[in-house]
Amino acid sequence: MNCNTYKPQKYYIFTYGCQMNVRDSETIAGLLEAMGYVEAASPEEADLILFNTCSVRHSAENKVYGKLGEIMSLKKKNPDILIAFGGCMAQLAEVRQKLKKQGVDVVFGTHNIHELPHLIQKVRESQLPVFKVWEREGQVIESLPSKRQNGISAFVNIMYGCNNFCSYCIVPYTRGRERSRHFADIIKEVEELAANGYKEVTLLGQNVNSYGRGLDVKIDFADLLREVNAVEGIERIRFTTSHPKDVSDKLIDTIAECSKVCEHIHMPLQAGSNTVLQRMNRSYTREHYLELVEKIRHKIPGIAITSDLIVGFPGETEEDFLQTLDMVEKVRFDAAFTFMYSPRSGTKAALFGDQVSLEEKKERLQRLNDVQYRIATEINESLTGTVQEVLVEGPSKTNREKLTSRTRTNRIVIFSGPKTLIGELINVKIVKARTFSLFGELT
Ligand code: SAH
Ligand code: SF4
Ligand code: F3S
Repeated sequence: MNCNTYKPQKYYIFTYGCQMNVRDSETIAGLLEAMGYVEAASPEEADLILFNTCSVRHSAENKVYGKLGEIMSLKKKNPDILIAFGGCMAQLAEVRQKLKKQGVDVVFGTHNIHELPHLIQKVRESQLPVFKVWEREGQVIESLPSKRQNGISAFVNIMYGCNNFCSYCIVPYTRGRERSRHFADIIKEVEELAANGYKEVTLLGQNVNSYGRGLDVKIDFADLLREVNAVEGIERIRFTTSHPKDVSDKLIDTIAECSKVCEHIHMPLQAGSNTVLQRMNRSYTREHYLELVEKIRHKIPGIAITSDLIVGFPGETEEDFLQTLDMVEKVRFDAAFTFMYSPRSGTKAALFGDQVSLEEKKERLQRLNDVQYRIATEINESLTGTVQEVLVEGPSKTNREKLTSRTRTNRIVIFSGPKTLIGELINVKIVKARTFSLFGELT
């Protein structure tokens, strides 16, 4: 081959779903680059287009199918493009059936990302589709290459999978049983990030509070936080998600005592009615949740508490729903992601008889958002005039002239300033508040 005409193959990744998938896409990018691929600026320029998918709700799957349809018409014009499909949707047999008909080239699951280079190689050689998904999780695999998204803030997996089987949720089926990474591997990764100039790490797990179960050393999430807190160079530590059933006093004390651990806890309530919570298999009551909130706020003043909330779970009555609204008023979440219940086949709740109608779900979601957004706006407004320490992340997505940053409590603050501030911890004065963000001025 003439070197002058050699052009590296290009890849483009579409990522859907949660931070786990964002992190997995970084690993996928690392694996592809190790094969010699380079990133394409757009799907039109790519030789390999990869979907890293989410199946948590019907709407998430629909988005993927919509985009896949578009990309398949691109492939019709240029049959040389390879289409790869992975992530949580790929774990589901009925999805794979559809993908066979669509003409996708490579399908891989959440448990065998490391096999991707091999699968791509195989499809190139055989010119036939290669579908390979592991039904069950394997050992945790360390030291895969990865290409992180930015040089300031990094996601770090501390565990994979979930054992909770909330009755609405597909995640235990797509991500397998809970496995914790070895504590030494996590610390090594955080140290490397610090050495490379990263200021912030977010520790990831479906339920970080159960970190350490099943490891040969006796360590829990609070111990891990302390160790990460001791890594020099890292200035901020975040973590997500905390299941309310496993938030211990030790964890609360540790968050309070570790100076780098940010004052923010994402602790999904899901629903306010004890009957619904029980049918969701969440293993806590509204009373327990309220006690936790009180304890956390007492020990960690100013902490932001955020939540996920579902409306229209099967059997949810108007009374039950009012209990959710009541909890939102009582707790006053700093922010919340709100969802309409979406039946997922294979989960328990999908088989419950008393499904709530779409109209009712829509109406409840609207009412919930009205209350939650009002509260979030009120809390944000109370911050105007205060000075906040923020980590500057980069140009604002909505206005490239401005910078976007985050407070320790995970609030977005937009302000004007020189680009040299990107990656720095600075103080800004809050001058204006909105429901989802704040506006600041350099002090
Ligand atoms: N492990 C995390 C949540 C992962 S899924 C936790 O337990 O908190 C993220 C959120 O999606 C959940 O908190 C829940 O609010 C929502 N969700 C999950 N399954 C859903 C479904 N079938 N319908 C609607 N929302 C759902
Ligand atoms: Fe899903 Fe519940 Fe596990 Fe969260 S804890 S991933 S909601 S089963
Ligand atoms: Fe979606 Fe899988 Fe995450 S279902 S929310 S991408 S774990």
